[in-house]
Amino acid sequence: MHYIELIYIISTILLIVGLRKLSSPSTARQGNLIAAIGMTSAILVAIFSPLKGDQGNLFYVFASISVGSVIGVIYSRKVEMTAIPELVSIFNGFGGACAVCISILEVYKFDGTTSIGLMATTYLALFIGGIAFTGSLIAYGKLAGKVKDWRSSISSYFNLFWMVVSIGLIVFQLINPQAVEFLPLIILIAALIYGLTFVWPIGGADMPVVISLLNALTGIAAALAGLVYGNMVMLLGGVLVGSSGVILTVLMCKAMNRSLINVIVGGFGATASSAAGEQGDIKETNTNDTAIMMRYAQHVMVIPGYGMAVAQAQKACKELDKSLTSRGVNVNYAIHPVAGRMPGHMNVLLAEADVPYNKLIDLDNANEMLTDTDVCLVVGANDVVNPSALDDKSSPIYGMPVLEILNSKNVIVLKRSMNKGYSGIENPLFFHDKTSMLFGDARDTIEALNGEIKSMD
Ligand code: TAP
Repeated sequence: MHYIELIYIISTILLIVGLRKLSSPSTARQGNLIAAIGMTSAILVAIFSPLKGDQGNLFYVFASISVGSVIGVIYSRKVEMTAIPELVSIFNGFGGACAVCISILEVYKFDGTTSIGLMATTYLALFIGGIAFTGSLIAYGKLAGKVKDWRSSISSYFNLFWMVVSIGLIVFQLINPQAVEFLPLIILIAALIYGLTFVWPIGGADMPVVISLLNALTGIAAALAGLVYGNMVMLLGGVLVGSSGVILTVLMCKAMNRSLINVIVGGFGATASSAAGEQGDIKETNTNDTAIMMRYAQHVMVIPGYGMAVAQAQKACKELDKSLTSRGVNVNYAIHPVAGRMPGHMNVLLAEADVPYNKLIDLDNANEMLTDTDVCLVVGANDVVNPSALDDKSSPIYGMPVLEILNSKNVIVLKRSMNKGYSGIENPLFFHDKTSMLFGDARDTIEALNGEIKSMD
């Protein structure tokens, strides 16, 4: 075996081991490093491979890598934890853009001897990479609050139109490869427009699914580009990213109880804000009463949500947990799969605060435990505890699995106002008899609660 192939195989193994280790918070850092080593060695071999012949571009290659690396390092260091999904989205877009650049260069090298298989693969990489690029930019804009949802009654047709145009032109080009010289550019423009029209109408709570779908598309585009170049690491890396993206997409659809088609054509979030109504009165409480209730409870369940990330309340939560646990209260954390703004968001935050993993209870187990729970402390969660998902057929989130916290004895909700959650719909939980609202920034409130508990001894 040639040494280049050997290094490619080692790089691929490092990538797989790295991905495997990313699946647990305790090994994720190590996994990241291992995958990065695998990727770096593959890139270096690809650049210096004598099989590739032309070494004249080394200056441009290293200049681009250096500029990209500096921007990447500065941006990643500066970015807030809450903005990580946006960062992932934009990185993903650049992956799609790479596939576009590679394929558009390659299609202009085709001649009479090029096989139809290679041509089809390259055009597919161009098409899918283009969708992933513009789709990810729109997803980034939406998550960053810079782009508003846009949906009209004709948007599905508009969408379909651009998809048909793109695929039709690709088929035409494959049948008549030399017919029109600028056709590949038209195909590229159609794919870029399709990426925009595909993601723009999808709103609110469906964004995580879309982002993971776009991730999968970028992986597929990279795999196709790997096929075009006959580069094994690129192919396998793309297959791994593509397949994990597909698995995550399916898991998230399951967590929201929606089909992928429904997510893509449904425009869930876009119509969600209209679904609200007057719900009645709320009951307010204070830190003193809540502290007494928690201090004398047997089982407390913390329900973290996006507000915990905004307030950076995870360390305060851990301190409160310590105080309660040392006084004989059993404290656990119920983790909804789409709480926060990215998969695993709550796990990452709580791991950062050194909350032991065995206290993080997944949705199904948490729902079983909630019937024995004395106090549910909702820390900046909203959609993931919305009971409309269980009993209101007219609600846009009807059918989505949620944490059934009304099965517990008491619910305390920490939030700053009566503002709605990400999906923009009203939450009847806040108006329920069992619920008391404790308004304020979650971190300040939890620190105050902890102070009250400590002062009770
Ligand atoms: P949300 O429904 O977004 O609700 C967050 C709540 O936190 C809001 O009601 C907000 O109310 C409160 N909040 C914000 N800042 C706060 C602070 N400093 N202190 C106290 N409370 C604060 O959160 P969730 O229940 O975690 O649900 C997540 C939603 O995002 C779901 O709809 C999900 O589908 C969607 N989503 C999820 C992901 C992934 S993969 N996790 C990605 C994108 C979108 P106030 O403004 O009144 O304080």
